[in-house]
Amino acid sequence: MKKIGVLTSGGDAPGMNAAVRAVARAALAKGMEVVGIQKGYVGLLEREYFEMTARSVSGIIQRGGTCLYTARCPEFRNMEGVLKGKEVCQELGIEGLVVIGGDGSFRGAGDLSSVGIPCIGIPGTIDNDIQCTDYTIGYDTAMNTAMEMIDKLRDTTQSHARCSVVEVMGRRAGFIAVNVALAVGAEAALTLERPYDLDKIAAKMIRTRDSKGKSHFIIVVSEGVGNVENIARTIQEMTGIESRATVLGHVQRGGSPTVRDRIAATELGYHAVQLLEQGIGNRIVGFKDGKVYDIDLHEGLAMQKPFDNERYDILMETAY
Ligand code: ADP
Ligand code: F6P
Repeated sequence: MKKIGVLTSGGDAPGMNAAVRAVARAALAKGMEVVGIQKGYVGLLEREYFEMTARSVSGIIQRGGTCLYTARCPEFRNMEGVLKGKEVCQELGIEGLVVIGGDGSFRGAGDLSSVGIPCIGIPGTIDNDIQCTDYTIGYDTAMNTAMEMIDKLRDTTQSHARCSVVEVMGRRAGFIAVNVALAVGAEAALTLERPYDLDKIAAKMIRTRDSKGKSHFIIVVSEGVGNVENIARTIQEMTGIESRATVLGHVQRGGSPTVRDRIAATELGYHAVQLLEQGIGNRIVGFKDGKVYDIDLHEGLAMQKPFDNERYDILMETAY
């Protein structure tokens, strides 16, 4: 291929910039031209793009967010939008496209591949909820941010001998919740993947307070499980322990990417360009058993990702 495009789509994730940088630098080094498409599929349809040089991606490897901006594009969910996207690619001479985003963005990439524009998906989402890869860009940074904030929260929770019920992000996935809960020494993680019983959690809190002298408690709740204000109120009613709710929110999506995210993004970006260079599209690049690999886009999206059940069990058994 002589000319490729790159875009970021869906929710942003720390490390997306490192991936954009790797794609641009690898492609330019191989003699390809690179087009940076802004605001995801919205920018593709509206022709918001610029020709990238090595300097277009200078000084971004350490920055959170995405220098290409990101968006959600309802028009791209139907074939009319996808065919318009194909037309724009042909008009600009874009022979292949790298799409950095989550599973929704990959469905769009699959559609575009099926109409003749080979696309490669790079998993970029803090949720780590892409089925065919062990790891998604942004997950480590988001967990570190959540962990640091909950560590701060613990200070005041301890001072007041309270229970803090903390909501973390993760849309439909509890990976952030269970791993952060483990890292902060929480009493429990409430996730959609594992059934939980608030009565049992409350009874354990009372037991550990009365027999083991535990004075304060942290409960991490995955977004989507329920309203944390209500959960905190219920726990307070059940235990008599004063409880407060905290929603960490979008702060988890920001900040400078960790070493892990920068390296993962760079490896995946490089591999994506290698595929396009060979004329290969309709693939997702990811990690399997610690190694970079690629898989057919539709096959990858149809896979099931196992939950971190062992970690969940360790958390619940060591929390007292
Ligand atoms: P993510 O990629 O983070 O999962 P979304 O689900 O919001 O984020 O998807 C991002 C964009 O990808 C959507 O706004 C839309 O343009 C495109 N997209 C999502 N689902 C589909 C689909 N089923 N078919 C085609 N394009 C889709
Ligand atoms: O998918 C990433 C994510 O941050 C989810 O964890 C969260 O539910 C969602 O995006 C929030 O999306 P928005 O930025 O549209 O509020």
